[in-house]
Amino acid sequence: MGVRLIKISVIYFLIGVGIGYYMSTAHAYNLTPVHAHVNLLGWTALTLAGIIYILFPAAGKTKLATWHFWLHNIGLPLMMVGLAFVVYGNESLLILTIIGANLTTLAIVLFVINVLKNVKQPESE
Ligand code: HEM
Ligand code: HEM
Repeated sequence: MGVRLIKISVIYFLIGVGIGYYMSTAHAYNLTPVHAHVNLLGWTALTLAGIIYILFPAAGKTKLATWHFWLHNIGLPLMMVGLAFVVYGNESLLILTIIGANLTTLAIVLFVINVLKNVKQPESE
């Protein structure tokens, strides 16, 4: 799970930085919140989760880890696509932003529970 999270996080990194690059060159800043959350919730948060699972493999093998992975990676793209429409004044996909944000938040709650329950000091230390 750790490696999977790190690999998917760099895809968000590429998309997030791509949006940043576009905004800088086009001087069009509407997509700032999409850029910020693709980078922060996609790249940084998921890389950190991946590193945690590599440091604490027991936490990476749980059902909570699997549920976090899927809900986060379904929720975040939905939220970002919906938000991209909203920032350009089209609210027809607002529902996607709402569903996506709720799925992502739920995913993070599961991640937090997983870390609190299953990240433990290794026996040998
Ligand atoms: C080559 C890479 C990047 C470029 C060209 C870029 C470009 C930009 C631009 C043009 C803005 C809008 C600034 C404004 O509205 O005044 C912005 C905002 C932002 N960027 Fe980036 N960005 C890059 C990478 C990143 C990365 C890696 C992260 C996070 C891990 C990040 C986080 C943010 C955040 C949080 C904001 C919103 C700041 C605020 O609320 O004022 N950016 N970026
Ligand atoms: C599901 C989780 C999240 C939701 C629903 C959410 C929602 C929001 C909303 C509604 C705003 C205001 C946007 C605006 O006024 O344009 C915002 C701004 C922001 N959030 Fe989040 N957020 C989430 C997670 C995070 C996380 C984990 C981080 C940092 C690691 C973060 C960093 C930021 C930053 C830097 C801004 C200012 C961005 C800008 O200037 O456009 N958010 N967020």
